Amino acid sequence: MSDSLEITPEAVDAAVAAALAAIAAAATTAELKAARSAHSAEGSPLAALNAQLRSVPNERKAEFGKLVGQARGRVNQALTAREAELAAAETAAQLEAERLDITALAQRARTGARHPLTLLQEQIADLFVGMGWEIAEGPELEHEWFNFDALNFDVDHPARQMQDTFYVDPVQRHLVMRTHTSPVQVRSMLERDLPIYILAPGRVYRTDEFDATHLPVFSQFEGLIVDKGITMAHLKGTLDHVARTLFGAEAKTRMRANYFPFTEPSAEFDLWHPTFKGGARWIEWGGCGMVNPNVLRAAGIDPEVYSGFAFGMGFERTLMFRSDVQDMRDMAEGDVRFSEQFGMVV
Ligand code: PHE
Repeated sequence: MSDSLEITPEAVDAAVAAALAAIAAAATTAELKAARSAHSAEGSPLAALNAQLRSVPNERKAEFGKLVGQARGRVNQALTAREAELAAAETAAQLEAERLDITALAQRARTGARHPLTLLQEQIADLFVGMGWEIAEGPELEHEWFNFDALNFDVDHPARQMQDTFYVDPVQRHLVMRTHTSPVQVRSMLERDLPIYILAPGRVYRTDEFDATHLPVFSQFEGLIVDKGITMAHLKGTLDHVARTLFGAEAKTRMRANYFPFTEPSAEFDLWHPTFKGGARWIEWGGCGMVNPNVLRAAGIDPEVYSGFAFGMGFERTLMFRSDVQDMRDMAEGDVRFSEQFGMVV
């Protein structure tokens, strides 16, 4: 038995204490590995004490064996416990570092801009809904009867001609792409209870050229009132109100006598645009008139009791005036750079 490594409770306790202190101080699994080789592995004081057991006299082997065995057991237990602790802490740190918040919003694609026509349609719809009117709709593929006959068009009215109207094959079915929103007048009179206050916005089709001031597909908004005692004064007041709302307090409208089969009297109306680029002036805006008694009769309404007015104008034209758009084709082509000029209104 060498002097320096004599097996005594003090020597064993000292080796254990040094080992436990090193284990507790290890802050990483790498440091713990170092503590293990210094205090428990081959060459450590505890291993050396263990080796000394061979030279212990037989009658004391059990006593010393127990002393050293318990010491090694405590150190190994401490190593295992610390190892588990450090492994858990390192896993937690790694999970934290690699954390991915799956509830976070993904990077969104660049937002576009709402189309100025849509914005104008919503503004005009709001204006009428604010006056208590209802929004009415009808099909774009329409029966000739609604598009023409019920609206008092003669069988040989020029608008029926092939050059104005898209007829849909087979022609015997009498289906057309509606040429105006006026068929919604008739549908509303047939479907709804009186009185009627409706705004019918929607897409219409004509065999027009695609150029700066014409689109073969465009959109209109149609107003219709059928009630007792409706006069042209109501029509004029309504058109002026729409003009002021869209074009400012000084805007107004004027009527010029015209002909539409479904209104009598009929007028075209002009807008006084006070801030028109190039100077305030009158510009032709739409068509209007008092609902023709023949149309009321076609819808089963007694013209002796009820009267009404109707008007219709184009959204694209209105947007041209309002936002100084020079070329209507820009409204149809869907280039986001056009829409963006009108702001990113949501
Ligand atoms: N429907 C007509 C057009 O498209 C406009 C209009 C509507 C005229 C309502 C009178 C009344 O030109």
